[in-house]
Amino acid sequence: MQSKIDLYTTEIQRFEPKTAEELESFRIKFLGTKGIIKDLFDEFKAVSPEEKRVLGKVLNQFKQLAEQKYTDLKESFETKQEKSSSEQDFTLPGSGMELGGRHPLSLVRKEILEIFKRLGFVVAEGPEIEDDWHNFSALNFPEEHPARDMQDTFFIKKNSGKDDIALRTHTSSVQVRLMEAGKPPFRALMPGRVYRNEAISARAHCFFHQIEGLYVDENVSFADLKQTLYYFVQELYGEGTKVRFRPSFFPFTEPSAEMDISCTICKGDGCQMCKHSGWVEILGCGMIDPNVLENVGIDSKKYSGFAFGMGIERITNLKYQIKDLRLFSENDVRFLKQFQSELI
Ligand code: DAH
Repeated sequence: MQSKIDLYTTEIQRFEPKTAEELESFRIKFLGTKGIIKDLFDEFKAVSPEEKRVLGKVLNQFKQLAEQKYTDLKESFETKQEKSSSEQDFTLPGSGMELGGRHPLSLVRKEILEIFKRLGFVVAEGPEIEDDWHNFSALNFPEEHPARDMQDTFFIKKNSGKDDIALRTHTSSVQVRLMEAGKPPFRALMPGRVYRNEAISARAHCFFHQIEGLYVDENVSFADLKQTLYYFVQELYGEGTKVRFRPSFFPFTEPSAEMDISCTICKGDGCQMCKHSGWVEILGCGMIDPNVLENVGIDSKKYSGFAFGMGIERITNLKYQIKDLRLFSENDVRFLKQFQSELI
């Protein structure tokens, strides 16, 4: 046994591995669970007690030698590796960085704002937390109007009605703020996020985005409203897109209408998107009710105007054929990536 240890000792002392693999083979050969040291210790159990006294010491020294050799070599391999990684070749091409893209709603909002800017509209914004006056009362909502109900509105403070504070349910509130703060003429577009107390599904969400439009001047008529929105539709969906106005009701406009466009997908032939009617609704509009003008201190005998409001999600769905509203707020990169080519 002593002679075996001597032989192995020389082998260990002379060992000079060139690769990390050679070092690993060394570890397995000497220090592994089925390695030489394990075998020697097994053999040691069988020797006589006198021999044990001498051999025990020798064997332990041998074990320490093997272990020390292994740790020393391992360390030197590691530092060599670090050094080589600091000597990287910087002329190699890098691993590409992924580009971000704009959110589809931002893209469509931008496109809409740009169309109206060409007609001289400016952009205005207002707060998302609103009081009763700006969200409802000034807009001619009667006290008992269902839209004021707890089911639709997220109230932050609910008192007597007049002092209520809520998350705005539409961007029409910005109309009021704008008209209160200035003097006619007004020609503005007001984009923003709005909130409604609705269960989240493919077709409804508790928050979404709108763009409000406002035009106030002397002698503004329904014909101006129609022409403005007609131009908008031709620009956004392409020439030849038809429009139609259906009578409707909003407390803040009189007369009120909803505007449909010929289905962008089937071009009016009938498909799932337009429920086989050939038409899809895209916005609400009307002539501003004289009560609203008076509420904000504008002489309704001298001035008239029109307003309109559209949901950006709806316009985007029609443009890109998106069927589930939840996709807009889930931040799924697989969805968002599809709009990356449209970097503006
Ligand atoms: N505020 C309305 C809504 O959220 C949309 C709307 C309709 C706005 C008619 C208007 C308008 O300015 O004239 O449903």
